[in-house]
Amino acid sequence: MRAIAVRELGETPTLTDLPERDPAPGELLVRVSASSVNGFDVAVLAGWVQQYMEYRFPIVPGKDFAGTVEAVGADVDGFTAGDEVFGVALPAFVGSDGAFAEYVTVDARYGVTRMPGGLDRAVAGALGLAGSAALTALRALGLQSGQTLLISGATGGVGAIALQYAVASGVRVLATARPGAETEFVLGLGAERALDYGADVVAACRSLAPGGVDGVLHLAGDPRALVDLLAPGGCLASTLLFGPEQHPAAVSIVADAGGETLDRLAGDVAGGRVTVPITRRYPLAEAPRALADFSDGTVGKYAVDVE
Ligand SMILES: NC(=O)c1ccc[n+]([C@@H]2O[C@H](COP(=O)([O-])OP(=O)(O)OC[C@H]3O[C@@H](n4cnc5c(N)ncnc54)[C@H](OP(=O)(O)O)[C@@H]3O)[C@@H](O)[C@H]2O)c1
Repeated sequence: MRAIAVRELGETPTLTDLPERDPAPGELLVRVSASSVNGFDVAVLAGWVQQYMEYRFPIVPGKDFAGTVEAVGADVDGFTAGDEVFGVALPAFVGSDGAFAEYVTVDARYGVTRMPGGLDRAVAGALGLAGSAALTALRALGLQSGQTLLISGATGGVGAIALQYAVASGVRVLATARPGAETEFVLGLGAERALDYGADVVAACRSLAPGGVDGVLHLAGDPRALVDLLAPGGCLASTLLFGPEQHPAAVSIVADAGGETLDRLAGDVAGGRVTVPITRRYPLAEAPRALADFSDGTVGKYAVDVE
């Protein structure tokens, strides 16, 4: 199968030919239609994930997938060949089970669900990890209508989806964005105000919310400065390993990509209640450029069209 892979750390990812794997018991083999770039892919290729997970080369990046079930392993309930599915590839180690490839094997019990009608494949391929991180973080924050949330990193995939869910639940969102197109982007998604993260976000936030904000969603920037912006009783949820050991008001979240979360995301996107802001699309052969462009700075999601 065609896949984007590296055979050692530091190598530029390239289009190569790798054998596809038969699904083991409990697994699905998915013919991939679409994927997208996530920060995790960049972190894997930079070697930063080695302290948490074993690396087995060749490594194929790509957490998000949307596609069609090609084959079903033993002991799998609920899926059959031909099902249209999407989700997040969550192998136990970093290796060749990535979705920047024509096929990926995934655990059938977690991180995959059927696609509802009306959900575009490219959109589904950009939804899983960012959407589930957004919902997991908002659940942890537990904000009520009328409360104020600062999203630091609102211009990225997680931030853009979290912003929409927060606004839909009546939360007032202050969103980091540079002046110009980024500011238009977050205001277009419903943010009340944009805060230039090239300037002093802390000072800008204090002037807009002198009594403090009820929640901070930390997706980028310095969490130690952001946590001081909380009103009493407020909470900072971080996707970047800033948790209660660092500050008692912080919670470190890991995206819950269970079927219930994926179904909710799919339903909301298919129903037009939430948009997945795909701002660039790349064919599989150009996925290395997508990864490089993402590292240079990103707004919204960079999608990879695999077929
Ligand atoms: N724990 C988990 O389960 C989990 C799940 C998903 C994601 N994550 C992590 O969460 C982070 C966000 O994910 P993502 O997919 O949304 O990443 P992303 O698309 O890179 O979004 C981050 C956004 O923040 C902007 N930014 C950079 N520096 C900033 C600053 N100082 N203040 C405010 N904004 C700033 C970035 O702009 P530029 O690119 O232009 O710098 C980018 O638009 C990533 O680090 C990712 O690895 C963790």
